[in-house]
Amino acid sequence: MLEQLKKTGKDAIAILKEISDMAALEDFRIKYLARKGRVTQMLSEIRKLPPEQRRAAGQLANKIKKDVTEAFEQLKSTLQSQQQKSKEFIDVTLPGIPTNIGKPHVITQTINELLEIFGRMGFTVAYGPEVEDEWHNFVALNIGPEHPARDPFDAFYIDDNILLRSHTSPVQIRVMERTKPPIRVVAPGRVYRPDTVDATHMYMFYQIEALVVDEGISMVDMKTAINQFIHAYYGPEIKWRLRPSFFPFTEPSAEVDLLWLDKHGKENWMEVGGCGMVDPNVFDAVGIDSEKYTGWAFGFGVERLAMRKYGITDIRLFFQNDLRFLKQF
Ligand code: PHE
Repeated sequence: MLEQLKKTGKDAIAILKEISDMAALEDFRIKYLARKGRVTQMLSEIRKLPPEQRRAAGQLANKIKKDVTEAFEQLKSTLQSQQQKSKEFIDVTLPGIPTNIGKPHVITQTINELLEIFGRMGFTVAYGPEVEDEWHNFVALNIGPEHPARDPFDAFYIDDNILLRSHTSPVQIRVMERTKPPIRVVAPGRVYRPDTVDATHMYMFYQIEALVVDEGISMVDMKTAINQFIHAYYGPEIKWRLRPSFFPFTEPSAEVDLLWLDKHGKENWMEVGGCGMVDPNVFDAVGIDSEKYTGWAFGFGVERLAMRKYGITDIRLFFQNDLRFLKQF
């Protein structure tokens, strides 16, 4: 009898060792540990034994039951945790979770597009410093000390003679100081003015400057180039005009207006920049022979160009970094 009990126990443990999945484990439980299972059965048979054998057999049977149950429970929890792990298994073939990759700001996109158009028109790109001296920002541009633009309220001064540039026109001077005509450049960049902020004004904004200097350059060349650029950027439908104006560094001077619908759906002219024929005094300041050479220049507000392009009616949107706005471009 005792031998038989031991064998049952050994068999049960041996079978458990072979089991590697939950279904087989459940079969085992039914065969061995359930109410009619062999181990349970074994214990009830002990009761039929003569009293003198009962004690030893009972102790052995209980121990076997305990060992088998323990081995069973242990295997069960091992299998369960394996199952759990396989659920957490990383399937490297699944498509990844998309991450938020950034993209250029709408102003950067606009500048790139403008540079591309001017590149096709034969312009190279020039840059100048945002912290400028009075010579480049004013003096060489024929803006005398009495000119209202010299007023500290019209520029952010850093030191006596040093300021944040109030337009990109100083890049004209820097280019002419180091290059002999023919010149054909565009210069994009930030400019600063202590303007009161509203829907079309900001204390920092972007301009794109153009400068062409050569022999025999006339106002017709300027108008043709501006017309070409505006149509390349906006398409054939756009309406624009030149409106006579004044700048110390160009003569004659004009302002460029684009026709657009304001936020009430009303047709309106919006000024996007200034232009004109380079004033001979400017050529004199940089040592270019004003008898031999003529030239034209313009400076456009990049935000305003973009506002017309996308129907944006408030310049402040460009600088608020609201993703709902930025994601649209
Ligand atoms: N610098 C002028 C401005 O900021 C624009 C301009 C550029 C006008 C070049 C004429 C020629 O308003």
